[in-house]
Amino acid sequence: MLPVKPFLATIAALLTTCLAIGQSGLKSDQEPFRPLLHFTPQAHWINDPNGMVYHDGTYHLFFQYYPDGTKWGPMHWGHATSTDLLQWREHPIALYPDSLGYIFSGSAVVDAQNTSGFGKDGQLPLVAIFTHHDPTGEKNHTGKFQHQSLAYSIDNGNTWIKYAGNPVIPNPGIIDFRDPKVSWHEPTKQWIMTLATKDRITFYSSPNLKEWTKESEFGEKLGAHGGVWECPDLFTLTQAGVQKWILIVNINPGGPNGGSATQYFIGQFDGHQFTPDDEQTRWLDYGPDEYAGVIFSNTGKRRIFMGWMSNWDYADRVPTATWRGAMTLPRDLQLVKTSDGYRVASLPSPEVNKRAKLLTERRNVDMHLDKVPFVTPPNTPYAITLRGARLQEFSVRLFNDAGEELIVGYDQQKGQWYIDRGKAGQKDFANGFARRHVAARFTNSPQWDLRLIIDKTSIELFADGGLTTMTSIFFPTTLLNKSQLLATGPVKADITQVHTFSPD
Ligand code: FRU
Repeated sequence: MLPVKPFLATIAALLTTCLAIGQSGLKSDQEPFRPLLHFTPQAHWINDPNGMVYHDGTYHLFFQYYPDGTKWGPMHWGHATSTDLLQWREHPIALYPDSLGYIFSGSAVVDAQNTSGFGKDGQLPLVAIFTHHDPTGEKNHTGKFQHQSLAYSIDNGNTWIKYAGNPVIPNPGIIDFRDPKVSWHEPTKQWIMTLATKDRITFYSSPNLKEWTKESEFGEKLGAHGGVWECPDLFTLTQAGVQKWILIVNINPGGPNGGSATQYFIGQFDGHQFTPDDEQTRWLDYGPDEYAGVIFSNTGKRRIFMGWMSNWDYADRVPTATWRGAMTLPRDLQLVKTSDGYRVASLPSPEVNKRAKLLTERRNVDMHLDKVPFVTPPNTPYAITLRGARLQEFSVRLFNDAGEELIVGYDQQKGQWYIDRGKAGQKDFANGFARRHVAARFTNSPQWDLRLIIDKTSIELFADGGLTTMTSIFFPTTLLNKSQLLATGPVKADITQVHTFSPD
């Protein structure tokens, strides 16, 4: 007879495989809209990435998850792990709703010094810090229905135990009081929680993750305020010996192209207070489809960012069948000094580049004359990389034989990069879905580079070394596996490359 635990694990694995094949009975590469390089749930609804943490060679991704439907519902934390940030294995649900409410967004840390005391027999605890959202309190308009709570794991993230003393930060009377992101602040030797509190960020400190003291507030009168502030993050980035603190604040609605988006501030943090360098509103991703993005914790000097690849404007209507929602590709963040001050650049993580295989390369291309399309094999994610010495108006047309197309390009007059999904496939599920989204260019340099990663129903744009980033989803009837460079005059690309990504 099988011992009980492995037996249960076998059943769980079998169930997982059945789910992976999907309710439609299709394998993921046959499902019409399912990306192959991005994380998607085997079934049902997801939104924000949660509790992203690296521990003992494994990346853990938790996520807002509703296991009973393809629309938002009572939130759980789903769970997946990966060793390369690309191939994810989904695990049983980590956190279920309980008497304190649904499990909203939050973070996870490795409590390396066992400050919480949750560790046992030398096994270090992973601690999740999340928002409990009480739906009854919400219905009764108590104004105090979101609280911060803890759960811990002493088996490397496999199973989670809710802390008996929850909540650790009861609601002080703020309706939107959520999405704690916690990190260790070495100079003051304490934990810092960055919490979204309606129209500002509130910082708390703690010696042990259980007892928290309010330190300060930031942002009531700074940044974008077209919507509520959600899912913040706080971390350092260093460039040429200069260290800056980056404060990420997701906002919904009020993004640069409508709906939800990720803004950030650059400044200093002294363990108590965040002081911005200036009053600029900066956006980490200008596209419509990156939201709730934050970084993994415990990754040393690397800052690996991932967001939810959708927008609250239409997330619950996108035409996928058995699952809804995906994560962006992992991106490494870097601090870059521009003529206009510091900015954060995003580039696909090295793990993504490692999987890319060169399919075609053309040099000294005249975009005006080179009309032969690049064709990539079916069901294969691909990347287009272009570089040139003098940026002028041009575009890249991605298309299929059904007459659908996605246009990506540079508008010289406006100095903007853009992605136009106006004719890229299904669009009637949401008003205003089919349009052009634009983003500023953040360098005056004539030299330029553009990297596009296309994965069936998504495109991620990284221009000028990642200074401009955009994410957009689209739903063509057949894949847009042909691409063509367009220009009205003699515009040159020094190098054009197409890479494909193999699934493993
Ligand atoms: C952001 C968000 C969070 C909240 C969660 C609920 O997308 O609204 O503020 O914790 O989603 O699912």
